[in-house]
Amino acid sequence: TMTDFEAPFILAIDQGTTSSRAIVFDQAGRIVASAQEEFPQHYPHDGWVEHDPEDIWNTTLSTARAAFAEAEKSGEVGAIGVTNQRETTILWDRTTSAPIHNAIVWQDRRTADVCAALREEGLEPHVAARTGLLLDPYFSATKAAWILDNVEGARERAEKSELAFGTVDAFLIWRLTGGKVHATDATNASRTSLYNIRDNRWDEILLEKFRVPESILPQVFDCAADYGETDPEIFGRPLPICGVAGDQQAAAIGQACFAPGDIKSTYGTGCFVLVHTGHEIVESKNKLLSTIAYRLNGETSYALEGSIFIAGAAIQWLRDELGVIKSADETAALAESLETNEGVYLVPAFTGLGAPHWAPDARGAITGLTRGAGKAHFARAALESVVYQTADLMTAIARDGADAKTLRVDGGMVANDWTMQFLADMLGLPVERPKVLETTALGAAYLAGMQAGYFQSTDEIVERWRLDARFQPAMSGEARQKNLDGWADALRRTLD
Ligand code: G3P
Repeated sequence: TMTDFEAPFILAIDQGTTSSRAIVFDQAGRIVASAQEEFPQHYPHDGWVEHDPEDIWNTTLSTARAAFAEAEKSGEVGAIGVTNQRETTILWDRTTSAPIHNAIVWQDRRTADVCAALREEGLEPHVAARTGLLLDPYFSATKAAWILDNVEGARERAEKSELAFGTVDAFLIWRLTGGKVHATDATNASRTSLYNIRDNRWDEILLEKFRVPESILPQVFDCAADYGETDPEIFGRPLPICGVAGDQQAAAIGQACFAPGDIKSTYGTGCFVLVHTGHEIVESKNKLLSTIAYRLNGETSYALEGSIFIAGAAIQWLRDELGVIKSADETAALAESLETNEGVYLVPAFTGLGAPHWAPDARGAITGLTRGAGKAHFARAALESVVYQTADLMTAIARDGADAKTLRVDGGMVANDWTMQFLADMLGLPVERPKVLETTALGAAYLAGMQAGYFQSTDEIVERWRLDARFQPAMSGEARQKNLDGWADALRRTLD
């Protein structure tokens, strides 16, 4: 029956780029209650993207309270897990908890020049060796320095320990605990470009090079750990926060990627492919990132990551800027109404290109338009662009020596069968879609569940993973190559 859930439940807070959501899971990993709210994006200049931290907080609070209240009709919530859009940077006043500037979002390109200058100085190999990352405005370090340099008096106040820095997880933990805990987890720390992923500590040399004072940094904990308790006023009683991971890492956990070679691709605002590489850091020769997959009981597992900045955001663009669709679900039928793409390609380099190009100044293009090109071509080109970008990542991953046999997918877009079939066709690999598509929130819940003692080992998570559908490659080699060549050509034009 509907009320047959196994308590104690876990509340997962998933603070994403375009919306905040809260999902309560039961012990079997079933969804008991959920809530979601979108919030405004701010684009003050070309290539800039900001969020109001109060929007982040308010939508988090209201969705968490709504899901909590709904869930508590059928059982007790015992623990909280937090997962979040990564790299997005917030600085706030330690006394008032008020942010000193809008959040600078991961997609924001304003520090491209700073990164280029640091590259000229020869910093990139050092960044790569210590953090596993590249020099790109994507990561938090140059964003934090930008705020310190552009908000009046901020540097002096930081030196006096009056300010705190955090990615979104740390900001939420601070607010949820009423300012008692200033902490982040190892996966989020690994995206700042300030954290040494070999030694598991903030890196003094990088702090100096990026001009970020140590005084503003949070403590770094394991992904399953004691992050303090929520202020009793929030849920009527204190609740322990005991699982934290960046959203892509949380999705990999929700997809039960615990063994070397396990690989997943998540389709949210962007698209992120993570392949587990065990306790070893694999250094990419193809411009992928090495990053922390998770840290449990003090032991670090690593991943190779391919990051694409625009996936679902391309569909949002069709809806909000072009107005050619009213809702995202219309895209599949539009795409399917055409036999082929008829030579129309979209390169959604709206905020530059991430892996494997790392071209912050590239901008989008649509190619191959004829008089007959209409809505359907735009919709199809947008969906196809997400697939081609995944294919480029998979090629880079294969060149780095990780030989994938299948790809596990998740996130909102994967409900679209047409896109998943096209993905299997372009990759030439089976694509596996799990029953629970909310793997990001599920991963955060699992982490909290481990710390709360509901799960003893990651094996129990592996056992809970359920297949919904497997898409097998079916397209002819010739048709596939024609598509891939068309994409490569369109891409070349944006990169020139
Ligand atoms: O690195 C950025 C990533 O964490 C954002 O995820 O789901 O908001 O696209 P999402």
